[in-house]
Amino acid sequence: MITLSLVGIATGNPDHLTGQAVAALNAADLILLPRKGAAKSDLADLRRRILDRVLTKPVRIADYDVPERAAGADYLGAVADWHDAIARLWEAALTRHLPQGGRAAVMVWGDPSLYDSSLRIAARIGGLAVEVVPGLSSLQLLTAAHGIALNALGAPVVITTGRRLRSQGWPPGADTVAVFLDAGGAFTALDPAGLSIWWGAYLGLPEEALVAGPLTDVGAAILAARARLRAEHGWIMDIYLMRRGDDR
Ligand SMILES: C[S@@+](CC[C@H](N)C(=O)[O-])C[C@H]1O[C@@H](n2cnc3c(N)ncnc32)[C@H](O)[C@@H]1O
Repeated sequence: MITLSLVGIATGNPDHLTGQAVAALNAADLILLPRKGAAKSDLADLRRRILDRVLTKPVRIADYDVPERAAGADYLGAVADWHDAIARLWEAALTRHLPQGGRAAVMVWGDPSLYDSSLRIAARIGGLAVEVVPGLSSLQLLTAAHGIALNALGAPVVITTGRRLRSQGWPPGADTVAVFLDAGGAFTALDPAGLSIWWGAYLGLPEEALVAGPLTDVGAAILAARARLRAEHGWIMDIYLMRRGDDR
Protein backbone atom coordinates (compact mmCIF):
# COMPACT_ATOMS: atom_id res chain seq x y z
CA MET A 1 0.00 0.00 0.00
CA ILE A 2 1.24 3.48 -0.83
CA THR A 3 0.24 6.50 1.23
CA LEU A 4 0.48 9.78 -0.66
CA SER A 5 0.66 12.95 1.45
CA LEU A 6 -0.38 16.16 -0.26
CA VAL A 7 1.61 18.59 1.84
CA GLY A 8 0.64 22.26 1.81
CA ILE A 9 3.91 24.23 1.89
CA ALA A 10 2.52 27.80 1.96
CA THR A 11 3.77 30.17 -0.73
CA GLY A 12 7.51 30.41 -0.49
CA ASN A 13 8.50 31.31 3.05
CA PRO A 14 9.97 28.21 4.73
CA ASP A 15 8.95 29.65 8.11
CA HIS A 16 5.34 29.24 7.02
CA LEU A 17 5.47 25.43 6.90
CA THR A 18 3.58 23.82 9.76
CA GLY A 19 5.17 21.25 12.07
CA GLN A 20 2.82 18.71 10.50
CA ALA A 21 4.14 19.55 7.02
CA VAL A 22 7.76 19.20 8.14
CA ALA A 23 6.95 15.85 9.79
CA ALA A 24 5.15 14.56 6.68
CA LEU A 25 8.09 15.46 4.42
CA ASN A 26 10.54 13.77 6.78
CA ALA A 27 8.34 10.68 7.02
CA ALA A 28 8.29 10.25 3.22
CA ASP A 29 10.25 7.53 1.43
CA LEU A 30 9.82 9.46 -1.82
CA ILE A 31 9.05 13.07 -2.73
CA LEU A 32 7.60 13.82 -6.18
CA LEU A 33 9.01 17.13 -7.36
CA PRO A 34 7.81 19.01 -10.45
CA ARG A 35 10.37 20.41 -12.86
CA LYS A 36 8.65 23.49 -14.28
CA GLY A 37 9.52 25.29 -17.49
CA ALA A 38 12.29 27.88 -17.38
CA ALA A 39 9.94 30.77 -16.54
CA LYS A 40 8.97 29.31 -13.19
CA SER A 41 12.16 27.37 -12.49
CA ASP A 42 12.82 29.54 -9.47
CA LEU A 43 9.62 28.13 -7.95
CA ALA A 44 10.88 24.57 -8.51
CA ASP A 45 14.19 25.62 -6.94
CA LEU A 46 12.24 27.05 -4.04
CA ARG A 47 10.75 23.65 -3.27
CA ARG A 48 14.30 22.25 -3.19
CA ARG A 49 15.44 25.05 -0.91
CA ILE A 50 12.56 24.30 1.46
CA LEU A 51 13.57 20.63 1.47
CA ASP A 52 17.21 21.55 2.17
CA ARG A 53 15.98 23.53 5.12
CA VAL A 54 13.47 21.09 6.66
CA LEU A 55 14.65 17.55 5.88
CA THR A 56 16.60 16.00 8.72
CA LYS A 57 17.58 12.93 6.67
CA PRO A 58 18.03 12.12 2.98
CA VAL A 59 14.76 11.39 1.16
CA ARG A 60 14.65 10.08 -2.39
CA ILE A 61 13.42 12.68 -4.89
CA ALA A 62 11.65 11.77 -8.14
CA ASP A 63 11.61 14.75 -10.52
CA TYR A 64 8.96 14.86 -13.21
CA ASP A 65 8.39 17.27 -16.08
CA VAL A 66 5.06 19.02 -15.78
CA PRO A 67 3.25 18.48 -19.09
CA GLU A 68 1.93 21.47 -21.04
CA ARG A 69 -1.82 22.04 -20.77
CA ALA A 70 -3.45 22.22 -24.19
CA ALA A 71 -4.84 25.63 -25.11
CA GLY A 72 -8.21 25.89 -26.81
CA ALA A 73 -11.90 26.46 -26.36
CA ASP A 74 -12.58 23.37 -24.25
CA TYR A 75 -10.92 24.63 -21.05
CA LEU A 76 -12.37 22.00 -18.69
CA GLY A 77 -11.60 19.18 -21.12
CA ALA A 78 -8.01 20.39 -21.46
CA VAL A 79 -7.64 20.54 -17.67
CA ALA A 80 -9.01 17.00 -17.29
CA ASP A 81 -6.54 15.69 -19.91
CA TRP A 82 -3.74 17.54 -18.13
CA HIS A 83 -4.68 15.95 -14.79
CA ASP A 84 -4.73 12.51 -16.47
CA ALA A 85 -1.24 13.10 -17.85
CA ILE A 86 0.18 14.16 -14.48
CA ALA A 87 -1.54 11.23 -12.74
CA ARG A 88 0.19 8.84 -15.16
CA LEU A 89 3.57 10.43 -14.33
CA TRP A 90 2.95 10.19 -10.58
CA GLU A 91 1.78 6.60 -10.90
CA ALA A 92 4.86 5.61 -12.94
CA ALA A 93 7.19 7.18 -10.34
CA LEU A 94 5.37 5.53 -7.43
CA THR A 95 5.41 2.12 -9.10
CA ARG A 96 9.07 2.47 -10.00
CA HIS A 97 10.39 3.79 -6.69
CA LEU A 98 8.01 2.20 -4.17
CA PRO A 99 7.38 -1.33 -5.52
CA GLN A 100 6.88 -2.64 -1.98
CA GLY A 101 4.68 0.31 -0.93
CA GLY A 102 5.60 3.08 1.48
CA ARG A 103 5.03 6.79 1.94
CA ALA A 104 5.26 9.42 -0.78
CA ALA A 105 4.74 13.17 -0.59
CA VAL A 106 3.89 15.96 -3.00
CA MET A 107 4.68 19.54 -1.99
CA VAL A 108 1.57 21.56 -2.76
CA TRP A 109 1.82 25.32 -3.20
CA GLY A 110 -0.27 27.10 -0.57
CA ASP A 111 -3.09 24.87 0.64
CA PRO A 112 -4.24 21.75 -1.25
CA SER A 113 -7.92 22.77 -0.99
CA LEU A 114 -7.68 26.04 -2.93
CA TYR A 115 -7.33 26.13 -6.72
CA ASP A 116 -5.04 23.14 -6.68
CA SER A 117 -5.35 19.95 -8.70
CA SER A 118 -3.40 17.54 -6.50
CA LEU A 119 -6.47 15.93 -4.91
CA ARG A 120 -8.09 15.39 -8.31
CA ILE A 121 -4.85 13.99 -9.73
CA ALA A 122 -4.34 11.63 -6.78
CA ALA A 123 -7.95 10.41 -7.10
CA ARG A 124 -7.09 9.16 -10.61
CA ILE A 125 -4.53 6.70 -9.21
CA GLY A 126 -5.95 3.44 -7.90
CA GLY A 127 -4.90 1.81 -4.62
CA LEU A 128 -3.54 4.94 -2.94
CA ALA A 129 -4.29 6.15 0.56
CA VAL A 130 -4.32 9.93 0.23
CA GLU A 131 -3.81 12.28 3.15
CA VAL A 132 -3.88 16.08 3.16
CA VAL A 133 -1.62 18.29 5.24
CA PRO A 134 -3.03 21.83 5.27
CA GLY A 135 -0.88 24.82 4.42
CA LEU A 136 -1.16 28.59 4.62
CA SER A 137 -2.77 29.80 1.40
CA SER A 138 -1.97 32.95 -0.54
CA LEU A 139 -5.37 34.29 0.53
CA GLN A 140 -4.37 34.11 4.20
CA LEU A 141 -1.04 35.76 3.41
CA LEU A 142 -2.87 38.52 1.54
CA THR A 143 -5.23 39.35 4.41
CA ALA A 144 -2.38 39.14 6.93
CA ALA A 145 -0.06 41.35 4.86
CA HIS A 146 -2.76 44.03 4.59
CA GLY A 147 -4.00 43.52 8.14
CA ILE A 148 -7.61 43.01 7.06
CA ALA A 149 -10.38 40.53 7.79
CA LEU A 150 -11.39 38.24 4.92
CA ASN A 151 -15.09 38.92 5.44
CA ALA A 152 -17.01 42.06 6.29
CA LEU A 153 -19.01 41.78 9.51
CA GLY A 154 -21.24 38.71 9.26
CA ALA A 155 -21.04 38.76 5.45
CA PRO A 156 -20.16 36.02 2.95
CA VAL A 157 -17.10 35.91 0.65
CA VAL A 158 -16.93 34.70 -2.94
CA ILE A 159 -13.63 33.17 -4.05
CA THR A 160 -13.25 33.13 -7.80
CA THR A 161 -10.84 33.38 -10.72
CA GLY A 162 -9.80 36.26 -12.95
CA ARG A 163 -11.25 34.41 -15.93
CA ARG A 164 -14.69 34.18 -14.30
CA LEU A 165 -14.66 37.73 -12.98
CA ARG A 166 -13.84 39.01 -16.45
CA SER A 167 -16.51 36.94 -18.22
CA GLN A 168 -19.31 37.16 -15.64
CA GLY A 169 -18.68 40.38 -13.75
CA TRP A 170 -19.22 40.98 -10.03
CA PRO A 171 -20.79 37.84 -8.49
CA PRO A 172 -24.46 38.59 -7.75
CA GLY A 173 -25.09 39.34 -4.08
CA ALA A 174 -21.39 39.25 -3.17
CA ASP A 175 -20.00 41.72 -0.71
CA THR A 176 -16.36 40.59 -0.76
CA VAL A 177 -14.68 38.86 -3.71
CA ALA A 178 -11.24 37.22 -3.62
CA VAL A 179 -9.65 36.65 -7.02
CA PHE A 180 -7.06 33.96 -7.83
CA LEU A 181 -5.42 33.13 -11.14
CA ASP A 182 -5.88 36.44 -12.90
CA ALA A 183 -3.70 36.71 -16.00
CA GLY A 184 -3.90 40.47 -15.48
CA GLY A 185 -6.47 43.17 -14.84
CA ALA A 186 -9.76 41.25 -14.77
CA PHE A 187 -10.98 43.94 -12.37
CA THR A 188 -10.95 46.41 -15.27
CA ALA A 189 -14.12 44.67 -16.47
CA LEU A 190 -15.95 46.06 -13.40
CA ASP A 191 -17.42 49.45 -12.62
CA PRO A 192 -14.87 50.53 -9.98
CA ALA A 193 -17.16 53.00 -8.19
CA GLY A 194 -17.50 52.12 -4.51
CA LEU A 195 -15.04 49.20 -4.63
CA SER A 196 -11.91 48.90 -2.50
CA ILE A 197 -9.07 46.55 -3.50
CA TRP A 198 -6.24 44.90 -1.57
CA TRP A 199 -3.66 43.41 -3.99
CA GLY A 200 -0.53 41.37 -3.30
CA ALA A 201 2.12 39.69 -5.44
CA TYR A 202 4.91 37.22 -4.49
CA LEU A 203 3.32 36.91 -1.04
CA GLY A 204 5.65 35.17 1.39
CA LEU A 205 8.63 35.75 -0.90
CA PRO A 206 11.30 38.45 -0.58
CA GLU A 207 9.83 40.15 -3.69
CA GLU A 208 6.45 40.68 -1.97
CA ALA A 209 4.56 43.74 -3.30
CA LEU A 210 1.34 45.23 -1.94
CA VAL A 211 -1.09 47.93 -3.10
CA ALA A 212 -4.43 48.88 -1.52
CA GLY A 213 -7.04 51.60 -1.85
CA PRO A 214 -10.21 52.57 -3.69
CA LEU A 215 -10.20 50.79 -7.06
CA THR A 216 -10.75 54.08 -8.91
CA ASP A 217 -7.52 55.44 -7.35
CA VAL A 218 -5.19 52.42 -7.44
CA GLY A 219 -6.40 50.22 -10.34
CA ALA A 220 -3.96 51.75 -12.84
CA ALA A 221 -1.07 51.59 -10.35
CA ILE A 222 -1.73 47.86 -9.80
CA LEU A 223 -1.68 47.19 -13.56
CA ALA A 224 1.57 49.15 -13.93
CA ALA A 225 3.24 47.44 -10.94
CA ARG A 226 2.15 44.04 -12.22
CA ALA A 227 3.61 44.63 -15.68
CA ARG A 228 6.86 46.03 -14.28
CA LEU A 229 7.35 43.19 -11.76
CA ARG A 230 6.47 40.53 -14.30
CA ALA A 231 9.07 41.91 -16.71
CA GLU A 232 11.64 42.18 -13.92
CA HIS A 233 11.23 38.63 -12.54
CA GLY A 234 10.00 36.79 -15.66
CA TRP A 235 6.89 35.51 -13.80
CA ILE A 236 4.31 36.77 -11.35
CA MET A 237 1.72 35.33 -8.98
CA ASP A 238 -0.77 37.78 -7.56
CA ILE A 239 -4.08 37.72 -5.78
CA TYR A 240 -6.54 40.36 -4.66
CA LEU A 241 -9.58 40.95 -2.58
CA MET A 242 -12.26 43.52 -3.39
CA ARG A 243 -15.04 44.79 -1.19
CA ARG A 244 -17.92 47.18 -1.63
CA GLY A 245 -17.14 50.17 0.58
CA ASP A 246 -14.05 50.21 2.75
CA ASP A 247 -15.09 47.99 5.68
CA ARG A 248 -11.83 46.36 6.78
C1 LIG B 1 -2.96 27.37 -8.85
S1 LIG B 1 -3.38 28.60 -7.68
C2 LIG B 1 -2.72 27.90 -6.21
C3 LIG B 1 -3.26 28.51 -4.95
C4 LIG B 1 -2.66 27.87 -3.71
N1 LIG B 1 -3.11 26.50 -3.55
C5 LIG B 1 -2.99 28.65 -2.44
O1 LIG B 1 -3.47 28.05 -1.47
O2 LIG B 1 -2.68 29.83 -2.40
C6 LIG B 1 -2.22 29.85 -8.08
C7 LIG B 1 -2.77 31.22 -7.77
O3 LIG B 1 -2.69 31.43 -6.38
C8 LIG B 1 -2.31 32.76 -6.12
N2 LIG B 1 -0.99 32.74 -5.48
C9 LIG B 1 -0.27 31.65 -5.17
N3 LIG B 1 0.87 31.99 -4.58
C10 LIG B 1 0.89 33.32 -4.49
C11 LIG B 1 1.81 34.27 -3.96
N4 LIG B 1 2.96 33.88 -3.39
N5 LIG B 1 1.49 35.58 -4.03
C12 LIG B 1 0.34 35.97 -4.60
N6 LIG B 1 -0.56 35.13 -5.12
C13 LIG B 1 -0.29 33.82 -5.06
C14 LIG B 1 -2.29 33.48 -7.47
O4 LIG B 1 -3.58 34.02 -7.71
C15 LIG B 1 -1.98 32.35 -8.40
O5 LIG B 1 -2.42 32.65 -9.71
